[in-house]
Amino acid sequence: MVQRVELEVSEKYQPNIEEVVLSSPDVDSYAAHTVLDLVANKPDAILLLPTGNTPKGMYRIIAEESNYGREVDFSKVNVLNLDEYWPISGGHFASFKYYMKHHFYNYVNIPREQRYIADGGYPEPFTETARIQGHLEVFKKKGIDLAVVGIGKNGHLGFNEPGTPHDMETWITELSEDTRRANASDFILPEHLYGIQESIPVPHHAITLGLGENGIRAAKHIMLLAKGEAKAEALRRAFREPSTEEVPASALQNHLNVTIVADYAAAEGLGAA
Ligand code: GLP
Repeated sequence: MVQRVELEVSEKYQPNIEEVVLSSPDVDSYAAHTVLDLVANKPDAILLLPTGNTPKGMYRIIAEESNYGREVDFSKVNVLNLDEYWPISGGHFASFKYYMKHHFYNYVNIPREQRYIADGGYPEPFTETARIQGHLEVFKKKGIDLAVVGIGKNGHLGFNEPGTPHDMETWITELSEDTRRANASDFILPEHLYGIQESIPVPHHAITLGLGENGIRAAKHIMLLAKGEAKAEALRRAFREPSTEEVPASALQNHLNVTIVADYAAAEGLGAA
């Protein structure tokens, strides 16, 4: 049973932003059930989905509860990922393609042709950004039901780093040193892959959906997940100060339907713990 603690409306900074503050395991459960309920009610839902440590618990619960599609059928769902490193091979353990397979696609019955992610191994990144943008626009016409997003410590969303204009479409971005450092642990070769794969340095670039209305903000509902004290300051800057390009997540202040799901430590930044 998810314990749901909402702020009083009068305490909210933005009326279009719902703030849900829970224990960390309940953040996973709340997020997973938001996705499961959506798909149960709308089997052909279109989702934008993230990677990172934060949503791992959400994916684990979706995997358990969908039970390979036997409990909740994902066979008509389409997914577009927010981003991917470039260059990186989709088979590399640190790629987001690999992440999605191991945390999500191995456990739900989404057909391969309904799983969309930028190909980090494609030699021409600009052709690849155009291809992904094309998919996003087709999905936007049909209606993107939900975008689940995380937030970087520097306020990044997808891989839109500080300074990114809020009206961007899919593009190739240069990763900040902060972000490369924050993600470096994902590039340490796991023991079970010794001899099969090589470590590579964190790439300097990524292909990411932009923040614009032809980007992440094309989704009808955006659910931002934040866990841990390291995210408190990013939440404060994104949602307790005026929207600015210096804080990419603050672009969500200009969207009609956002839910922030934060654990108690991250919610310190909202003054809500
Ligand atoms: C990554 C991803 C983001 C993610 C963020 C936070 O670099 N590109 O989509 O939300 O960083 O990751 P984590 O959840 O591991 O803190």
